[in-house]
Amino acid sequence: MTNWLNQCHFGDCLETLRRMPDGIAQACVTSPPYFGLRDYSGGAAEIGKEKTPAEFVAALVAVFQEVKRVLRDDGTLWLNIGDSYANDGKWGGSSGGKHAQALHGNTTIGRGKTQTGIKPKNLIGIPWRLAFALQDDGWILRQEIIWAKPNPMPESVTDRCTKSHESIFLLAKSEKYYFDSGAIKEAVAPSSVARLSQDIEQQAGSDRVPGKTNGAMKAVGDLEQRNKRSVWTVATTPYKGAHFATFPTALIEPCILAGAPAGGVVLDPFFGSGTTGEVAQQLGRKFIGCELNPAYQALQDERLRQPSLCLEAA
Ligand SMILES: C[S@@+](CC[C@H](N)C(=O)[O-])C[C@H]1O[C@@H](n2cnc3c(N)ncnc32)[C@H](O)[C@@H]1O
Repeated sequence: MTNWLNQCHFGDCLETLRRMPDGIAQACVTSPPYFGLRDYSGGAAEIGKEKTPAEFVAALVAVFQEVKRVLRDDGTLWLNIGDSYANDGKWGGSSGGKHAQALHGNTTIGRGKTQTGIKPKNLIGIPWRLAFALQDDGWILRQEIIWAKPNPMPESVTDRCTKSHESIFLLAKSEKYYFDSGAIKEAVAPSSVARLSQDIEQQAGSDRVPGKTNGAMKAVGDLEQRNKRSVWTVATTPYKGAHFATFPTALIEPCILAGAPAGGVVLDPFFGSGTTGEVAQQLGRKFIGCELNPAYQALQDERLRQPSLCLEAA
């Protein structure tokens, strides 16, 4: 019997996922290749090289259909996906341009001509095309989290703003799902603490219960911590060994903390250098990785050389 846990399984993730048992993972935290941006030297099965956005979205919907089966019924998918611009003179999108090439070396695509069917210069809208397709396929689209980058990739454009954010979609398999909001609470700004304390003092003489508010303000009982907001400011920190975009560990820590309990299993079908595995181990979760390109095993070994710290699920 295959031992799925705490290792990366090489090959096309669609094929690998098809062999996995139902309900083995609690959460999936992943970043698929972006449409038409890079060549990961993975050959024909590599996702991201499709000719049109529709083909790209269809390929990902098929992968996430299997992910849904592999997740427990109360499982979630945390999906980081970036956008790109239509430019049929180049291969796929044109995000990043020369700068991407400089930063990502020989892994930036060998651009050939393709027909996206979208007029050049258009933002393709990949994240929302994918989000709606997943919704149509039965996922519950719960939230768009904005990853705000204080250090975005430089762009030489002068007719729009420099892009400094990406999306992370939170999708659920069922209406009731595991989400530990307490594990990712954030500190309340001192100015808000002062304002809320004042509000509560003012309420004390009235017939309202101090510390309690109505409607949307119901959750302010704890003056020092608040529910995590949906804009996450996290600097990009390229992993030194990789030639491609890796997750900053700080970006996925909240996804793993909220998405899986200690000892729970976190899946990443596009494992790359293994960031999801590394953070899962650090936080006492188990992981399952899938990756097409076996050349990334050395990077993963470096990051995952620590013995697994996983705790057994209670
Ligand atoms: C954006 S990278 C993921 C980076 C990863 N989050 C990290 O932090 O290192 C996308 C990865 O998906 C892999 N990939 C592309 N098509 C695949 C497929 N069909 N099956 C499995 N992996 C694939 C690429 O080789 C690449 O490593």
